[in-house]
Formats: sequence, C-alpha cells, structure tokens
Amino acid sequence: MSAISFRPYLPSDAARCAAIFRDAVEFSAADDYGDDQRAAWAARADDEAAFGAKLAGQLTIVATLDGFVVAFASLEGAEKLDMLYVDPAAGRQGVGAALVDAIARLAEGRGAKRLTAEASDVSKPLFDRLGFSAERRSLVQLEDQWLAHTTMTKALGESSSATRH
Ligand SMILES: CC(C)(COP(=O)(O)OP(=O)(O)OC[C@H]1O[C@@H](n2cnc3c(N)ncnc32)[C@H](O)[C@@H]1OP(=O)(O)O)[C@@H](O)C(=O)NCCC(=O)NCCS
Repeated sequence: MSAISFRPYLPSDAARCAAIFRDAVEFSAADDYGDDQRAAWAARADDEAAFGAKLAGQLTIVATLDGFVVAFASLEGAEKLDMLYVDPAAGRQGVGAALVDAIARLAEGRGAKRLTAEASDVSKPLFDRLGFSAERRSLVQLEDQWLAHTTMTKALGESSSATRH
C-alpha cells in the first residue's frame, strides 16, 4: 500500500468528503444497517455547504493516498472524535486506525485525558481493537430512523496512543 499522508481539511475538500461519507455509509455499513437507516444517515451530506461547514468548524484532517483524499476524521472540542469515514475502496488498509491515532494525538495536544466516540456498529470492532472500552449502547434518531451506536472511550496519556494498548 502507498504511504498514508495527513493534512488539515480545506474548504475545497467538502465535495470529496461528502462523497466519501455517502459511499462509506452506503457500502461499508451495509452489513450492519438497513437500506432506510443508511439512506437517513447518508442524507446528512445532502446539503454539502452545511456538511463542509461542520467539518470546517471542527478540527478535521484528511488522509491521502498518492495525493488523493480517501478518508477524513474530525475532533469536536478536546475529546470527542466525531466523524470517521473511509472510502470503501481504501478500506481495511489501516487508514481508519491511522486516523484515530492522529485524532488521539490532536486531542492530547488540546489537553484531553480521554478520547470518546459514538461508534457505529461498523466501526466498533476498530475501536475495540484500538483499546477503547464500550460505555453504553444507545439509539440516535436520523429523520424517521433509529440507529444503534456505542459510546466508546479510551484514556490518553504520555505512554498511550490510540494504536497501542
Ligand atoms: C469503520 C471504518 C472507519 C473503518 O475504516 P478502515 O480504514 O477500513 O479500518 P482499518 O483498516 O484501519 O481497520 C483496522 C482494524 O479494525 C477492525 N475493523 C475495521 N473495519 C472492520 C469491519 N468492517 N469489520 C470487522 N473489523 C473491522 C479490524 O480489526 C481491522 O484490522 P484488520 O483489517 O487487520 O482485520 C470504515 O469502515 C467506515 O468508514 N465505515 C462506515 C462509516 C462509519 O461507520 N464510521 C464510523 C462512525 S463512528
């Protein structure tokens, strides 16, 4: 695999990130969520201007392979990993794990002692593998659909990173 690079999100990335978001939900989440659930989830990117503004308002980084954006992740505040989406074509190559690690370092830079995420059922195995603990399971309503997710937390510190546990 080519080397993964990271850079800060730019407003010009909005359309590409929206496309990654839709494809990740449509294809990578197909085993865990039904058609109507995924349609409601993917609809969050319908308004690309609002979607881009949300990413710009958080600390968002994009991952590139050979200069092409293949994934993105965002940190809300100091300790919440909000968005984590990988182009299905670049899936299972370690991009998601590398992004979580990068977000963990940014969180530490903001003084966070822990990193939390509302993990989809698709992403829970990734967070499990990275040493996050499941705190509680809940449902979130998107349009007329209810989607399950799990609050996951990992302590941060001088000797820890998201990829070591
Ligand atoms: C979840 C997601 C971010 C994972 O991205 P990724 O780049 O494919 O993940 P990685 O390659 O870094 O996976 C690292 C490890 O996590 C685990 N993992 C990741 N995806 C998994 C899956 N679908 N099923 C089981 N284990 C999985 C595996 O242990 C994997 O290691 P392995 O490939 O050596 O077995 C991606 O599938 C995605 O965008 N999903 C849809 C959107 C979503 O649910 N986002 C999270 C919102 S909280």
